[in-house]
Amino acid sequence: MAGHDPEGADHSPPDEDTRSPPDSEQLEPTTEDAGDGLPEQDRDSDVDEEPSADSTQRSIREMLDDEGEASVFVNRDLVEPDTIIDEERIVGRDDQLESVVSFLKPTLQGNRPPNMLLYGPAGTGKSLIIGAVTQQIIELCQSKGERFGVIDINCQPINTLDQAVYELIQTVAIDVGADIGVPETGVSTKRKYRRLYNLINRHYDSVIFILDEIDLLVGRRANDEPAYSKLLYQLSRASNTDEIEGRVSVAALTNDPKFMEDIDGRAESSFNPRDVYFPDYDATQLREILGNRRDAFRQDALDEDVIPLVAAFAAQSHGDARKAIDLFRGAGDLADERGDEEVRENHVRESQEEIDKDRSLKLVEGLTTQKKISLYATAAVANYSNRSRSSVPSPVGFTVYQWVTDELDADQMTRETYVKYVKELSTYGLVSTARKSRGRGGGMYMEFTFTGDPAAMMNRIVDDTRLEAIAEQEELLRTVINSQLQQFHEQ
Ligand SMILES: Nc1ncnc2c1ncn2[C@@H]1O[C@H](COP(=O)(O)OP(=O)(O)O)[C@@H](O)[C@H]1O
Ligand SMILES: [Mg+2]
Repeated sequence: MAGHDPEGADHSPPDEDTRSPPDSEQLEPTTEDAGDGLPEQDRDSDVDEEPSADSTQRSIREMLDDEGEASVFVNRDLVEPDTIIDEERIVGRDDQLESVVSFLKPTLQGNRPPNMLLYGPAGTGKSLIIGAVTQQIIELCQSKGERFGVIDINCQPINTLDQAVYELIQTVAIDVGADIGVPETGVSTKRKYRRLYNLINRHYDSVIFILDEIDLLVGRRANDEPAYSKLLYQLSRASNTDEIEGRVSVAALTNDPKFMEDIDGRAESSFNPRDVYFPDYDATQLREILGNRRDAFRQDALDEDVIPLVAAFAAQSHGDARKAIDLFRGAGDLADERGDEEVRENHVRESQEEIDKDRSLKLVEGLTTQKKISLYATAAVANYSNRSRSSVPSPVGFTVYQWVTDELDADQMTRETYVKYVKELSTYGLVSTARKSRGRGGGMYMEFTFTGDPAAMMNRIVDDTRLEAIAEQEELLRTVINSQLQQFHEQ
């Protein structure tokens, strides 16, 4: 599937280039209407009422034109992470494709496919593979006059079970062009389920629910069965109870390898999935993935070192294909910004540096206040801990979070929500999470470890919120944290 060739790399000399003068030198007045920015020089003013404004306008357009022509890209979409790519561009996932295809094949024979759990680290192709296979099934079903519904939601922005059911209704309604038929709030979740089933029964012969990032659907109530467990239970038994008349299967996607551990027993037995594991990509596979998208760039615009280097960087960050594609695109953008005609190693290196620097900053800027506080409290524990390991047990992080919200007189979320918020950051690679057991019925907790410097993270958050008031109490915060840590570890 993979062995592509690098598109007839006849090394055409750079002087065949007739596109445009190098735009870094555009100050040179070569045309009659150049010579901008020299107001004294009275030019033959025909319609020039406002020479300075007019000349600015021209130069913007010139710059835009130049960039358009000189771009290293010919199809930049191909290196956008959310572009749905053709099947031929998928590499290195043969086993997973085969499993998913074989699990879903019964749909085409009028049978019910099993439920599935697709799990593995971020950027390993889970969403891609399930999307590619279900898309083909939709098309095959259509040609036979069967109505196969793919109801795909991402749970990351969803907070409650009720919202998740509403989101499912919305997805179906959009797909089939029906009314949503229930208000978002003010009616019971039960009624929403009924509307969902009703829409499905009316419009589909069989359905698959795709619940992406399912582990992030925690729900609000503490000490309760997590929302994802309830949702899995409901959806996977809906066909047994005849609430859904057609064939139903559920595919859950997660980065969390221990996802099934927190699932309620009855949900586990009704969901009972077939597992498909998505391991990290190695540098060779990443090279192939990128190689299959090299036509995003002009034929002669990629130095031969670029793909191996991008792949090597991404292999270091856990073989995440999304990161590889982002870096590939970033290097191209940087070359364009500089007006360079070719993407080279230095663009990759600099772009990677930028990504490292920007990622946490950008991310932090976009967070809600509650998420900032959660992150701040967690980073503070890592930063002020006197212990040799600076990982943060979630119960301690949460206590510190509560302390901070008290000090600020801010709203206080439940522990589950706090954990969800911090876990979300792991999808951006800012923290890594591990599930820990306290042993002998002591329960489970999460442990957070920052990949970068927690102090830098704290500074960033303080830069842009009212958390300054907390930052001023550094000594107190340090004391609170270390006494909490001590209590935790003595228990
Ligand atoms: N095997 C592959 N071949 C080609 N592109 C891939 C492959 N795996 C992942 N990608 C690309 O990498 C990005 C992340 O993949 P995605 O499926 O969203 O990962 P996950 O859902 O596991 O986090 C997407 O842009 C996807 O197209
Ligand atoms: Mg995904």
